[in-house]
Amino acid sequence: MTEAVQTSLPFTPRVFSGIQPSGGLTLGNYLGALKRFADTQDSGTQSLYCMVDLHAITVWQDPAKLRHATRELCAGFIASGLDPQKSILFNQSQVSEHTQLAWIFNCVARTGWMQRMTQFKDKAGKNAQNASLGLFAYPALMAADILIYHATHVPVGEDQKQHLELTRDIATKFNHDYGVDFFPITEPVIEGAATRVMSLRDGSKKMSKSDPSDASRINMTDDADTIAKKIRKAKTDPEALPSEAKGLEDRPEARNLVNIYAALADMSVDDVLREAGGKQFSAFKPMLSELAVEKLAPISTEMARLMQDTAEIDAILAKGAADARVIAAPILKKTYEIVGMVGA
Ligand code: TRP
Repeated sequence: MTEAVQTSLPFTPRVFSGIQPSGGLTLGNYLGALKRFADTQDSGTQSLYCMVDLHAITVWQDPAKLRHATRELCAGFIASGLDPQKSILFNQSQVSEHTQLAWIFNCVARTGWMQRMTQFKDKAGKNAQNASLGLFAYPALMAADILIYHATHVPVGEDQKQHLELTRDIATKFNHDYGVDFFPITEPVIEGAATRVMSLRDGSKKMSKSDPSDASRINMTDDADTIAKKIRKAKTDPEALPSEAKGLEDRPEARNLVNIYAALADMSVDDVLREAGGKQFSAFKPMLSELAVEKLAPISTEMARLMQDTAEIDAILAKGAADARVIAAPILKKTYEIVGMVGA
């Protein structure tokens, strides 16, 4: 990880992150999470990546689609270079310790804390009375995902910052209420705004699978022609590219395309602009299309191959769950002991 290890307690560094299998992976998921995770897998820190299927069902999911999306997400991880021998890759529902710890956290966290969560307010919309109880308790399950492994570092997008603060609040209150130093105070590792992938139609909005316009995003399953067409149609401004990053400051669409190029090419924005500065978008867009197709085509091909044989994916997830349980089971047992459960 790039950021310094800073926990209040001497816990071994361990990375955990979760992604919802709610269908449809975008270039934003790839650059913001999957590639980022694969790039750090040789850092020597133990890492766990979880497909949070139990979080997905806090809003309605068609069962067949959920199953497909979970496997597709797993295929996306592997096709992006994540090695299941190096990182633990699994789906949440196969490790029941998550929900067991979540119940304890339901009893530690306060309803007032949940009510303040902006994601709940956004997802519940106007009719919060009709939201599922699971959607309300979502952040306590998320805290359990992280703390059942004593994870110290959690790479996520900016939108998850509030949930991670709540995770720290839950750990702090648990430790305080029971007079222990048991759960670590987890450090968020927030993806910087400089690298966030934005919509191709509006540089102020995050690229999202839920945007009604398919032209706003590149899907990891788009073919070469579709990628090229979406980039050709991407919103830009009439200026040429600047020769330094600061020339992109008030040009969100231009900045987004340059950021995407830099991330795909593993280059800094300044290095990209050293090469492409002065070019018009009519010249830069074909360069970007070519690079995007070159990087994404092998990934979507590998995803399609993996999806033909779900037995291989299912075996990877089963092994990941077994590995995860080796860490989670003793932490749950100790938690039960601390709380006063007989038989723990
Ligand atoms: N809430 C996260 C999201 O929507 C997904 C998630 C669930 C997660 N559990 C987690 C992320 C634990 C990091 C750690 O993006």
